Amino acid sequence: MMIRSAKLEEAEAIQNLLLRYTENGQVLYRPLAEIEAHIDDFIVAVHDDKIVGACSLKTAWDGLAEIRSLCIDPGYYRQGIGTALVRECVERALVKGRETAFVLTYAVSLFEKLGFKTVDKSMLPMKVWNDCQGCIHQERCDETAMVLPLFPLSKSDPATLAETG
Ligand SMILES: CC(C)(COP(=O)(O)OP(=O)(O)OC[C@H]1O[C@@H](n2cnc3c(N)ncnc32)[C@H](O)[C@@H]1OP(=O)(O)O)[C@@H](O)C(=O)NCCC(=O)NCCS
Repeated sequence: MMIRSAKLEEAEAIQNLLLRYTENGQVLYRPLAEIEAHIDDFIVAVHDDKIVGACSLKTAWDGLAEIRSLCIDPGYYRQGIGTALVRECVERALVKGRETAFVLTYAVSLFEKLGFKTVDKSMLPMKVWNDCQGCIHQERCDETAMVLPLFPLSKSDPATLAETG
């Protein structure tokens, strides 16, 4: 299994994966042109040349990074692929200097295991909700908002290093 950045020619395979979950609103529908335009945001899990998982990381917000469009091929559930994709997003958010990662999700336990904490949705900035316009649950959003503060390791700070082992 390989976790890597998506390639433009993989946009359709990513959309096919997303489409499994857009109808019931587990994941927001994203048109192919939008996936292609934002292909640099996408990370994929590849097994035997097949895309078996995908997610994207939106870093357009000040200090915030949103984990979006996380979906795994059902034949590959519970093998740690979702976790690996989220970990990769978190690492990339750190590299990009973001202070907080967030997600709106139904997969609460997966994110809890990675240290995300549930917060009141009102804690997220209003502009986050622009993307909800295409969501079937828009009027009665029952997703959970979860955040993870990101603390880059400071080599010059022995206390930080001691704390993290
Ligand atoms: C949710 C989803 C991404 C999980 O992917 P995955 O690769 O199976 O997840 P992992 O193997 O990394 O699971 C890690 C933990 O998450 C939790 N988890 C994963 N799937 C779960 C499920 N269906 N029900 C309850 N907990 C689940 C478990 O705690 C699991 O740990 P465990 O296997 O040791 O019990 C996948 O089921 C999926 O694509 N679902 C549909 C789309 C979706 O809801 N995406 C999330 C949008 S943010």
